[in-house]
Amino acid sequence: MNMPSAAPMLSVQGLGMQFGGLAALSGVTLDVAHGEFVGIIGPNGAGKTTFFHAISGIIVPTSGLVRMDGREMQGKPPEAFCRAGVARTFQTPRIFAGMTVQENIRFAFTFGNQVGRSSLIDEVIEETHIGGLRGEIAGSLPPARQRQLEIAMALVTAPRLLLLDEVAAGLTESEVEDVARLISRLRKQYGLTVVWIEHAVRTLMRTVDRVAVLHFGRLLADGTPAQVSEDESVISAYLGEEVAQ
Ligand SMILES: Nc1ncnc2c1ncn2[C@@H]1O[C@H](COP(=O)(O)OP(=O)(O)O)[C@@H](O)[C@H]1O
Ligand SMILES: [Mg+2]
Repeated sequence: MNMPSAAPMLSVQGLGMQFGGLAALSGVTLDVAHGEFVGIIGPNGAGKTTFFHAISGIIVPTSGLVRMDGREMQGKPPEAFCRAGVARTFQTPRIFAGMTVQENIRFAFTFGNQVGRSSLIDEVIEETHIGGLRGEIAGSLPPARQRQLEIAMALVTAPRLLLLDEVAAGLTESEVEDVARLISRLRKQYGLTVVWIEHAVRTLMRTVDRVAVLHFGRLLADGTPAQVSEDESVISAYLGEEVAQ
């Protein structure tokens, strides 16, 4: 019988990451439910990327638990997170600059969960609007197209949980809006749960269901965009300057 799981898709408890004397993360507890769209904001150095590294197997956290569908995952390698349905993009795109768009996507596909369903490659290329760029060398693409390629490379692994680390960084305002629309549409189409780290706070707040704020490695706030944007501690620590810009 296929009982729906009561466990959150992602459950993080008391996550800590120590780099020598520096606590990049301390006691971070955050659950993400199936189908949720969560934004993560916070100043540079707050620990946002380190959080993603710990929930995708790039680093082994110093303390705490990371569960996917109730199964303990902390300390497991990236392949185990991929098999559990986690895919991510990187703050600095990790694409093969000398390979074509099509080759990059084929490469990502072979590491995914749907080897054998190669129709996913063409489908994702169309859905991420890079159909006309298949033969282009990835490294020569403008930033917005490289971001679309990275999203496509994550999607061909057939994830359930998509982690996006500043996919709008370095883009123009209208490109940022385009990326937000693209993510929202892909999320619905593929039934994805999404966690999106981004500095474009206004766009993020309009797009996500819930926002978590990291500050000096700690979870400063977690709530709806309306709750978080009115939170005094968030305004003084971070939002004051962001909104004023
Ligand atoms: N591999 C590492 N070794 C040492 N310090 C690191 C390492 N990775 C990140 N840090 C430090 O951890 C803190 C959090 O970094 P990061 O997670 O990249 O922050 P954010 O993504 O919020 O800007 C920063 O002070 C950063 O310099
Ligand atoms: Mg970062």
